[in-house]
Amino acid sequence: MTDFTFDAPRPMSHLDAPRPMSHLDAPTVIRVKRDGGVLPDEAIDWVIDAYTRGQVADEQMSALLMAIFLRGMTGPEIARWTAAMVASGQRFDFTDLRRGGRPLALVDKHSTGGVGDKITIPLVPVVMACGGAVPQAAGRGLGHTGGTLDKLEAIPGFTAELTKSQIRQQLSEIGAAIFAAGELAPADRKIYALRDVTATTESLPLIASSVMSKKIAEGARALVLDTKVGSGAFLPTEAEARELARTMVELGHAHGLVTRALLTDMSVPLGRAVGNAVEVVESLEVLAGGGPDDVVELTLALAAEMLDAAGIDGTDPAETLRDGTAMDCFRALVAAQGGDTTRLAADALPIGVHTDTVTAPRGGTMGDIDAMAVGLAVWRLGAGRSAPGEQVQFGAGLRIHRRPGEPVSAGEPLFTLYTDTPDRLGPARAELEGAWTVGDSAPPVRPLIIDRITATG
Ligand code: URA
Repeated sequence: MTDFTFDAPRPMSHLDAPRPMSHLDAPTVIRVKRDGGVLPDEAIDWVIDAYTRGQVADEQMSALLMAIFLRGMTGPEIARWTAAMVASGQRFDFTDLRRGGRPLALVDKHSTGGVGDKITIPLVPVVMACGGAVPQAAGRGLGHTGGTLDKLEAIPGFTAELTKSQIRQQLSEIGAAIFAAGELAPADRKIYALRDVTATTESLPLIASSVMSKKIAEGARALVLDTKVGSGAFLPTEAEARELARTMVELGHAHGLVTRALLTDMSVPLGRAVGNAVEVVESLEVLAGGGPDDVVELTLALAAEMLDAAGIDGTDPAETLRDGTAMDCFRALVAAQGGDTTRLAADALPIGVHTDTVTAPRGGTMGDIDAMAVGLAVWRLGAGRSAPGEQVQFGAGLRIHRRPGEPVSAGEPLFTLYTDTPDRLGPARAELEGAWTVGDSAPPVRPLIIDRITATG
């Protein structure tokens, strides 16, 4: 296994050589990391297992997560923490499945989290239409970022609680299943929910192990990671995002997955819709052959990367959006998971009934829009959680009427906010203050796809 080095902990004289911890208990494990030490393998295995079984309390795991957040982890610690999370549950194997007499090309993608990042919704059907099979363990919202499951559950009837046999059946019959991780990496399910409400999301070791434990366990053979860079990403700088991408690619490689990463821009929100149902509506536009250019570009780039990683050639992902085959696949996926396909229309999905509109104070050109501020505004509208297990509002969201670089006339709408709870509008609007400008010239154009990272070993 590659020996990653980052966030080197400060060695303490009595801790600098990891020693067996014969009497394992949560306070001792927390103290080691709190004081900048390196957790021995047995301590990692024990704490993940004991937490998953309810023998380490949430407050103890919260303290350990904060210590990891502040002190970091070595490469070997991340590798062991990830392996322990994988071992906390089942690891699916779909290599026996066949379609048309041929083994499935099992491939998935995962994003490190962004604002307006609905890409899974059009991407999975595109890859299905091109002959891939996607077993996707997806997540719920985390911090200021939205979650694929919260978005898809805005479709009445849609369920992500699938059994293993339902997942197998969907993979062999229609070529995809998008599901809550359930029995996969249950340690991540608990830790993810805890990170969401303890301000411990923005940590390289915790993001890498969270993403990769689910992806290693879900049964894909190839994986493409969309690693976000910019204000709306958990790790905003390009250097941190590169390190995260490299770490995840090496973890995937070490567990036998063909793994690559794209570094993509997340300094402005993706597309023109941020929230739950509003992002499904925008995804339907993409599947119908339209939609915002950046959403289409990223969908097609990730699809090309997934097909290549899975060894599928001779298909054109863009054609599946033009000829409607990706839309057919999406409808089949929604129907298989109990969703009401008659509700797959802009006016049939639950959009918040209370609205507020931000208008342009002057004419000119739309400047940059800060992705983090938009993510927080949408979270305040009710699209995310502030307590574990809270129900999100499917109708909460925001529409962006003018993207950076577009012309603006004085008084015209720039953003519309939606919620089911009117007293959320004020705080959400306050998050947007100072987060956008209208000026005399267009902001610099940044490439959406910054780089591509492959395994070195
Ligand atoms: N996605 C995950 O699954 N986990 C993270 O920590 C961030 C994004």
